Amino acid sequence: MKVIVIGATGTIGTEVAKALIAKRHAVVAASRHGEVKVDLEDAASIRGLFDAVHDVDAVVCCAGDAAFKPFAELVDADYALGLRSKLMGQVTLARIAKDHLRDGGSITLTAGILAREPMVGSAGVSLVNAGLEGFTRAAALELPRRLRINVVSPPWVTETLIKFGMDRTLGQPAADVAKAYVAAVEGTQRGQVLDPRRLS
Ligand SMILES: NC(=O)c1ccc[n+]([C@@H]2O[C@H](COP(=O)([O-])OP(=O)(O)OC[C@H]3O[C@@H](n4cnc5c(N)ncnc54)[C@H](OP(=O)(O)O)[C@@H]3O)[C@@H](O)[C@H]2O)c1
Repeated sequence: MKVIVIGATGTIGTEVAKALIAKRHAVVAASRHGEVKVDLEDAASIRGLFDAVHDVDAVVCCAGDAAFKPFAELVDADYALGLRSKLMGQVTLARIAKDHLRDGGSITLTAGILAREPMVGSAGVSLVNAGLEGFTRAAALELPRRLRINVVSPPWVTETLIKFGMDRTLGQPAADVAKAYVAAVEGTQRGQVLDPRRLS
């Protein structure tokens, strides 16, 4: 399959691209600063991506920002970031991708377990992740041409916990998280929230 991976240079995206290539898929790696450019916050640039890359079977998004900080410290700009980038960036991606993917193709988005397993500091992120999960369940009911949409809700990734000096034992390695994305691309599920902890 020909698969666009948005965020392919990131902690999760690098492993997703690697895992897809290992399974002999053709990966187009895209991000703001990568070789193939796209900015999730800019609908025109998402349209430009699909104008430039044709015959795409699947798009996987491992990108999108949201602010992680205590509720009392969250300001309008923090909420706006999560809504503009991680939430509406991926919703816009799905809306554009549905008009460009090949029949029977798939869209895989990224949310996060903070949607259902909140912690102190996660209000802004939990809001966005829950929105993505709800969006995916509903949009799957209406996609045309046998298109599928699913969302991976990763736990904390071990590499990220190490980077932020947090307890690494709470996390799952990015390479294991990546397996959920491969399952979404290669599978038949639609409207599913995939928790990588349940696959390994
Ligand atoms: N890491 C975790 O523990 C964890 C856990 C649960 C959920 N998640 C979610 O998983 C996603 C990826 O996380 P990560 O830790 O892998 O992130 P990361 O290491 O910071 O990598 C982000 C990737 O996305 C690209 N990117 C960022 N903003 C973009 C935009 N507006 N348009 C297009 N590409 C963009 C970056 O490349 P450029 O700079 O070139 O654009 C990079 O390739 C995020 O949505 C995050 O909330 C992460």
